[in-house]
Amino acid sequence: MRTPIIAGNWKMHKTLAESVDFVRELAPRLEPFAGVERIVCPTFIALAATADALRGTPVKVGAQTVSHEEKGAFTSQIAPGMLVGLVEYVIVGHSECRQYLGDSDELVNKKALAALNAGLKPIIAVGESLEKRQAGAALPFVEGQVRAALANISAEQMAQVVVAYEPIWAIGTGLNASVDDAVEVIAHIRATVRELYGEAVADGLRIQYGGSVKPDNMVAYMSAPDIDGALVGGASLKVDDFTKLVELAAQAKGV
Ligand code: 13P
Repeated sequence: MRTPIIAGNWKMHKTLAESVDFVRELAPRLEPFAGVERIVCPTFIALAATADALRGTPVKVGAQTVSHEEKGAFTSQIAPGMLVGLVEYVIVGHSECRQYLGDSDELVNKKALAALNAGLKPIIAVGESLEKRQAGAALPFVEGQVRAALANISAEQMAQVVVAYEPIWAIGTGLNASVDDAVEVIAHIRATVRELYGEAVADGLRIQYGGSVKPDNMVAYMSAPDIDGALVGGASLKVDDFTKLVELAAQAKGV
């Protein structure tokens, strides 16, 4: 069985002090739900202190992006090697990085490879715009993103990869995708991975849904066997909501 995985993407929220205070309160609340992998993704500036505060707890840390370069004259960038020891996961290809920061499919692939080569686990985010969905092109568009992101990633490395399906129109809008729509795209992602890597890799790959996930819609998503967890923005910023999401995932998945 695939271990359910709930990650909170804090985006550009919470100062260093707020991040540390938050996880000190959150970690004991999440303690009982050992069957769910629990991750917070603070801003870079808060990573080290948050990782320190979480040491010895079951809550893991992720970064929100990473450079594809190892080191060098890349002002403002953070290399994968700099994250080693601080984080286990790193989100790559979030739609906000694709939209506002110029992360192309090719760059997302390079970042995923760089993360894997450093021993980090990439959460590769994909998802279509409203335009693409309304044009009936969601499936081929997301398939293209998946194929591009996974280029040159080996079957062995795939054990470290998580995919997050986040339709852009559902992010921060309150307009969450219907469970049927999410399941349709996620099943298509799994079928694409099956074609690329075979049955065992496809069956083992964890695929999250993201986009306006809240305690009141969580059970519906987590009841779908193909949806292995959630990548959560807004609702991960509140201890009560985050705890509830993890609790509901544990219940729905029976772990
Ligand atoms: P919201 O949960 O705020 O819609 O954000 C989703 C997201 O982008 C997580 O990466």
